[in-house]
Amino acid sequence: MPTLATGLQRLDIGQFRNIETARLAFSPGLNLITGPNAAGKTSLLEAVYCLGRVHSFRTTDPNQLIRHGQAAFRVVGRVGLPDGRVIPVGIQRRPGNYEIHLEGRPLRRLSDLAGRFPIHLMTGDTANILSGGPRYRRQSLDWALFHVEPGYRNAWQRYARALRQRNAALRDHAPAVQVTVWDSELVSAATSLDRLRRDYLKDLSGHVARELTLLLPGKKFAIRYQSGWAKDLTLAEALKKSLDKDRSRGYTQPGPHRADYAVLVDDWPARTHYSRGQQKSIIVGFLLGQVKLQHALEVPKGIFLLDDLASELDVEYQARVLSGLAELETQVFVTAIDTRSLDLGAWPVHKRFHVEHGTIREVVQ
Ligand SMILES: Nc1ncnc2c1ncn2[C@@H]1O[C@H](COP(=O)(O)OP(=O)(O)OP(=O)(O)O)[C@@H](O)[C@H]1O
Ligand SMILES: [Mg+2]
Repeated sequence: MPTLATGLQRLDIGQFRNIETARLAFSPGLNLITGPNAAGKTSLLEAVYCLGRVHSFRTTDPNQLIRHGQAAFRVVGRVGLPDGRVIPVGIQRRPGNYEIHLEGRPLRRLSDLAGRFPIHLMTGDTANILSGGPRYRRQSLDWALFHVEPGYRNAWQRYARALRQRNAALRDHAPAVQVTVWDSELVSAATSLDRLRRDYLKDLSGHVARELTLLLPGKKFAIRYQSGWAKDLTLAEALKKSLDKDRSRGYTQPGPHRADYAVLVDDWPARTHYSRGQQKSIIVGFLLGQVKLQHALEVPKGIFLLDDLASELDVEYQARVLSGLAELETQVFVTAIDTRSLDLGAWPVHKRFHVEHGTIREVVQ
């Protein structure tokens, strides 16, 4: 169980989506948010997410978050840190301008906020990790590695820069030597990226496998990584081999920018072989494994948001997911339309909130 008063203790919301105002005190354990369609459940999660990440998971246009007809939204929270301190965090948006405060001071770098208050999120879109294109898997891999591996961001930036320059030379039909001049930097950065990704996925698959013993008992889990170029070649060889094709296409084909991984359960591809409920369980297992690995690597504990627990899952699967979440020992926010049949045995510490037409009230039990 969470020992802690860590996590989001209080939240004040003003004019965010359909929520006019709300003043909430959360449980350090599970916070269950219920209500009918269009009540404002996802909007509440979005407000929490926005406090930690300064953007939304639903829109790239932050002005959409301002309640219709209003000039600004405001979200202010009190976050309990593992060292026992409680810090205020606030964010206010007027069209075209964000003001962010951490501990009473304007914030210079967004990473300060993300580092103090990591937020893990599962929505319907998270299924893209399994069913979407390679881009989604690379994004999730990069995001995770930025958090746990100090050297990753630097290697990633070096690689992106060399790739951009090489592709510009290819697009401009520059002489071959102006293309290959980037190869050694590309290969050097790619070697770091590839090694860090490989090591990370190996550790991750161990953690996910453990989560799945609870979520999908008896199934064997594996991740099959593809580096982005032919297995039997080094990247330097692959670049040499594809130079003519790259020049006629106008971009670089082989490299970590085309990496991907397949998720296999009992040797079957998770994305094509399993039922919707099983797939959702695999994704939950994947995220839980990711968070457990972060905890093992001493990334500060954050909070976990799960939108729409019940979609695709029967009550038995829902109970397993809630047990899996309980083992994270972090604060959790879960939305669902109806929770009457939910088994909360794993969560002695919890609160319920009911949302209707943008009004949120705590359900006293
Ligand atoms: N800027 C805004 N101002 C006012 N209302 C908005 C704004 N943006 C979205 N809404 C409305 O807020 C309502 C709540 O949406 P939300 O997605 O939070 O509902 P929900 O409770 O998660 O519903 P569901 O169970 O269907 O997922 C919707 O009717 C939506 O159209
Ligand atoms: Mg919703």
